[in-house]
Formats: sequence, structure tokens, C-alpha cells
Amino acid sequence: MVCLGNICRSPLAEGILKSKLPEDNFFVDSAGTSNYHIGEKPDSRSISIAKHYGIDINKQRGRQFTTIDFDRFDYIYAMDNSNYRNIIGLARDTSDRNKVKLILNESVPNQNLDVPDPYYGGDSGFDNVFKMLDEACNSIADKLNNN
Ligand code: 4NP
Repeated sequence: MVCLGNICRSPLAEGILKSKLPEDNFFVDSAGTSNYHIGEKPDSRSISIAKHYGIDINKQRGRQFTTIDFDRFDYIYAMDNSNYRNIIGLARDTSDRNKVKLILNESVPNQNLDVPDPYYGGDSGFDNVFKMLDEACNSIADKLNNN
């Protein structure tokens, strides 16, 4: 799960998808394309909205996406088109590029929609983001659990 800062959207996506998959079989992680918030906890508004829906993301810490992540993961979900382009820019070959998906295409196929960046907005933005990611993660978990 990849966004820009790895403090608002992707920590939520990580927590939500983890909650829908058996932890023995899947490794779910998140990262940011930027180095702005390395080592930091998720934004307090993301921690709050996750807690409201019964998910604890408090232990997560920000890290930056690196090329090595293409070797460590089978699927890489970008939160928006800008993140998508930045990740694709780091890909070494077609195999790397094929791993990268826009996360909302899982719930609303082929529309290339962005998860809006809630960083500069109010609390309602975080609830909206949570609901969008929950729906997308339902589709992802359905696919992965049935493989
Ligand atoms: P995120 O949100 O990409 O969902 O973690 C942001 C967090 C921080 C910044 C931008 C977006 N920032 O510019 O510091």
C-alpha cells in the first residue's frame, strides 16, 4: 500500500487489508513515495478513524518505498495517479510494472480514480478515505482469499 507520506492513506489501507486476511498467509505493508515522514507514526486523524472502526494502526512507522519492494511484494497498490507514476518510475522491468495497481480500480474498475489526499482537509476526509479503502480492500481480500 503506497501513498505520498505514508502517514494518512496507506497506513489505513495496510490496517484495513490486514484485518481481512489471515495473517499467517499474507504479508501486508505500506510505504510512501516521499521521504517526508520516515520513522513517524501515522497521522493522529488516521489513527482515530481506524480505531473508530476497530483497527489499530498505532504501531506502524513511516518508511519510503524502494526498488527492493518490487522483489518483496506480489502486488503494489498506489493510492493515487501521482503515486502510481512515481512507483512506475522506479520499476526495473515489465515484471515490476505489472505488480503496480491503482487501488480504487479494485472497487471501481477501469476508472483510474484517486483516493483523495486528506492531509490538508478536515476529519470528514479521513472517514471518506476509510470507506473507500474498506470497499477496495474487500475486493482485494475476496480475490486473494479465493486464490
Ligand atoms: P498521505 O498524505 O500521502 O496519505 O500520507 C500526506 C501526508 C503528508 C504530506 C502529504 C500527503 N506532506 O506533504 O507532508
